[in-house]
Amino acid sequence: MSKQVTFFTEPGGSCQGAIRVAGDKSISHRSIMLGSLAKGTTEVTGFLEGEDALATLKAFKALGVKIEGPDQGKVTIHGVGMGGLKAPTQDLNLGNSGTSMRLLSGLLSGQPFASKLTGDHSLSGRPMKRVIDPLLLMGANIDSNEMGTAPLFLRGGESLKGIDYDMPMASAQVKSCVLLAGLYAEGQTSVTEPAPTRDHTERMLQGFGYEVKREGATVTLQGGGELTACNVDVPSDISSAAFFLVAGSITPNASLTLSHVGMNPTRIGVINILQQMGADITVENAREVGGEPVADLVVKHAPLKGIQIPEDQVPLAIDEFPVIFIAAACAEGQTVLTGAEELRVKESDRIQVMADGLVACGINATATPDGMIIEGGQLTGGKLDSHGDHRIAMAFTVAGLQATGVIEIADCDNVNTSFPDFIALANQVGINVSAKEVS
Ligand code: S3P
Repeated sequence: MSKQVTFFTEPGGSCQGAIRVAGDKSISHRSIMLGSLAKGTTEVTGFLEGEDALATLKAFKALGVKIEGPDQGKVTIHGVGMGGLKAPTQDLNLGNSGTSMRLLSGLLSGQPFASKLTGDHSLSGRPMKRVIDPLLLMGANIDSNEMGTAPLFLRGGESLKGIDYDMPMASAQVKSCVLLAGLYAEGQTSVTEPAPTRDHTERMLQGFGYEVKREGATVTLQGGGELTACNVDVPSDISSAAFFLVAGSITPNASLTLSHVGMNPTRIGVINILQQMGADITVENAREVGGEPVADLVVKHAPLKGIQIPEDQVPLAIDEFPVIFIAAACAEGQTVLTGAEELRVKESDRIQVMADGLVACGINATATPDGMIIEGGQLTGGKLDSHGDHRIAMAFTVAGLQATGVIEIADCDNVNTSFPDFIALANQVGINVSAKEVS
């Protein structure tokens, strides 16, 4: 049982200054995975020292990889080469991290040894059939419980064959799982995605010297190649920056600079959506760092208006909807989200949990099967449960800036999975929030 932590927001905060938010979670996971499989030593800077990325790091240590750090975001990985992982002597417990479990299931299916992947209560309820199905097609021997959920048992030792996979949902985790299994498969593996999803795996594979081709919606690689160590500079996570983009937008007189934020085009839906709602966000000093676009973002207060969120932005903003819903609650008029049924299978059912939380804070919000309808209004104080979902906890902390009373948010310890410094940075910019351990 994790610690029980409750957040309390106080009305009347501000949003000023310049901060650098935590490192990108998706890139941090992948730096450990590819660094471990590479030949040579990989130095990572800006690594996210959150529980999810640390679960991946711990798993690779258990697979026999020597890894030093993290120490202030620096990690040194002594890569073992494609064939150098060792059988783990214990279950690989991946905590709350869907990315760890889905990507590792692909990577470990191609190993000569067996492994068992476990997770916490939330992860054990999340759909894994979406990775099991393509891995079975590749010839993997993989088993789950009857519901298609963790624990996952990977027999290992099979020779995998490449497939052309037409992915049924827009998921970077599924795409990455198949591509990582494809590294170990005979012949060519390709994945076609129904909508663009984050492409960090493809970019980083190329950074490690592995050829990856993209033609339209299809990504292809050949099995049997090698990875060569390279240094990885992890940008700040736009998914963590998003809380402050909304905080700045909804707070009178706000002016906040967020430095070194990852601006990968497959991740910037939150900026596009907020700008369409009227947000004042400027992109400065755009540059490229280690194959990923990065920029400084300046956000200032602006009146927001409700919109119909374009469906093509949904996969590009998939992790940011909890806080986009808060922006919608503070906007004038109605905001409608459709085409986002994937939100129901995140760390919590983010459609239901957010709708319940908004209603508890005085907002007229209606959950629909694939989205939400939100009438902008006046947030009040309220009491709600984050259901152990880090992004729900942080979203309602931001809501506290515009609420007329205290918002009490239960079950917030998992903020440590993606953004361990959140409470400190929130207070630094002027958001009145405190975290209290409750028994
Ligand atoms: C991630 C992909 C997304 C995202 C998750 C991280 C990744 O999940 O929600 O937080 O690092 O590949 P899906 O691929 O399931 O959409």
